[in-house]
Amino acid sequence: MNQETIQSEFEARYGKPTLLVRSPGRVNLIGEHTDYHLGFVLPAAVDKEIIFALAPSSDDQAHLHAVNLDESIAFNPQDFRKSNKDWGNYGLGVVDQRRQRGYSIPAFNCTFGGNIPQGAGMSSSAALECGLAIGLNELFGLGIDKIELVKLSQRAENEFVGMNCGIMDQFASVFGKARQALKLDCRSLEYQYYPADIAGYKIVLFNSGVKHSLVDSEYNVRRSQCEEGVALLQKLGKEVESLRDATLPMLEKNQEHFDEVVYRRCAYIVNENQRVTDACEALARQDLATFGQKLYESQQGMQHEYEITVPETEFLVDQTRSEPAVLGGRQMGGGFGGCIINLIKEAEINRFSDQLAQAYKEKFDLDLEVYIADIVNGTETMNNVQ
Ligand code: GLA
Repeated sequence: MNQETIQSEFEARYGKPTLLVRSPGRVNLIGEHTDYHLGFVLPAAVDKEIIFALAPSSDDQAHLHAVNLDESIAFNPQDFRKSNKDWGNYGLGVVDQRRQRGYSIPAFNCTFGGNIPQGAGMSSSAALECGLAIGLNELFGLGIDKIELVKLSQRAENEFVGMNCGIMDQFASVFGKARQALKLDCRSLEYQYYPADIAGYKIVLFNSGVKHSLVDSEYNVRRSQCEEGVALLQKLGKEVESLRDATLPMLEKNQEHFDEVVYRRCAYIVNENQRVTDACEALARQDLATFGQKLYESQQGMQHEYEITVPETEFLVDQTRSEPAVLGGRQMGGGFGGCIINLIKEAEINRFSDQLAQAYKEKFDLDLEVYIADIVNGTETMNNVQ
């Protein structure tokens, strides 16, 4: 789905667009489920993205048209309810946030489409929210800064869609930078870029094809189990506002007070935060072996402590362990399926992908999709409306 298609779909419906925006999906190198515990993450925006064409509308109805699905919604931006189309609610959520903040949004027309695989854990929803948020900001000269647009997009998902996600996906989609991974402190929102353009290696995703459905999955259960852990630590007199403030010795010393499952959930988060820091240091000194090792350790934690992996993704990661061309790998994103992310020697990608696809087919009778992810800039307007 390229720019010409999105633009001509717009012209066929609404006339000439005045603005084009591109908004990328993301990968997360390491730091899984740490964002909503105010910890660290290391995502990057990638070249799987959504393109939007926009213009003000001449009547009081706003129109959103999803080109990939060939579906549309129409609504009055001052007065609307939830849509029965899931994708529609990501867009409506962004307009709703504006409305709540007292901005009056004039009606607009928008077509969008792209190539972010659905259900793969690559944050197509964040790309949709952030692309529309930045597009409307530009189209109507609202002057909201980028960080506010990120927060607004996250709140759209929390409040309108009902998914209690953290801030990582929206932040990565907006603040991503070509060839760099973004270490984000999810408490202070300070961030730092680390070079992730690794000579001879590529970030490769293998899509298990098993779909995660975050809203009704275990995501919110994990969140409350960890909150239970924080409440317990507070009761024991520890000064913690979130698991970000907890340390491993603190947990270990108080293990007897914890429910066994809650303890493992908390230990995973504390360890995963440390792994992000270690992985960033390894990247900075180009120590790829250590970096890869951290990915495998993250996988172990997700499998045994946080328990968000599934047999399909466990199998895929296990298959990479004995392959010298793969430096490290782990399940990526919200969990319960989706992609595994790996760092693989470029010259060996085709051979290894074929081998893995065959093994996966034999074991689960499922097809494996392979994406090579190049790291690109975050959401931006495109200056070439023709
Ligand atoms: C989803 C959420 C993110 C983050 C990840 C897990 O992608 O939207 O906020 O919590 O899961 O790391």
